Amino acid sequence: MVKFEQIKGFVFDLDGVIADTSVYHGKAWHQLADELGVTWTEQLANDLKGVSRMDSLELILKAGGKENDYTLEEKEKYAAEKNTNYLNLLKDMDKSAILPGMADFIASLEEHDYKLSLASASKNSPLVLEQLGLAQYFKNRIDPATLKHGKPDPEIFARGAEVLGLKPEECIGLEDASAGVKSINGAGETSVGIGDPEILHEADINFTDTSQVTLDNIKKAMDKVEMS
Ligand code: BG6
Ligand code: MG
Repeated sequence: MVKFEQIKGFVFDLDGVIADTSVYHGKAWHQLADELGVTWTEQLANDLKGVSRMDSLELILKAGGKENDYTLEEKEKYAAEKNTNYLNLLKDMDKSAILPGMADFIASLEEHDYKLSLASASKNSPLVLEQLGLAQYFKNRIDPATLKHGKPDPEIFARGAEVLGLKPEECIGLEDASAGVKSINGAGETSVGIGDPEILHEADINFTDTSQVTLDNIKKAMDKVEMS
């Protein structure tokens, strides 16, 4: 692992890292899975995290053995329906939806002159950042519509470093999804997994929740790995 002192930038996932919107994504997909007659499981909920809208729908259909049952047009209609449900859940969201400690962590990064970028698969991320009052911190964003491959492919996190003018090894990526941790690792950045360490076992550093994510704790964790 690289030394903490080499780090110059942080590449953030949004849903489940900065805000608890991943719960709303889950609710909206659960609603659609019920409508499609697909059994909702914890495993499915975890597999969908970080995955793009259409890929998520495909995973749900596959879980129910229905991957060949719908035309592209029908699938687009279902994906749009999920998004409408998701946006309804977001309607009254404000900065109280920022996960514990993340507003302070982001502010501390700016204070210490680290560069920040956003590597979210969500096409709703500009709206979410506005509602959270955090848009000014994330001027460097990857437009998911320009990606060839979704997470777990490294493309989005590689682009997250590129837009900052940094080498991957100079960046830390933060993720709550297994697919996202794989993307960070594939891009050659240091991965911070936030959530269940068993699910995120591939991360270089693990924190069980966002309140533990501070510069100090990241430095301590990186120093510890280096010494072992
Ligand atoms: C990711 C979420 O950030 O964005 C996924 O973790 C979601 O759950 C994906 O499916 C795409 O989001 P959207 O808002 O474009 O449907
Ligand atoms: Mg996420």
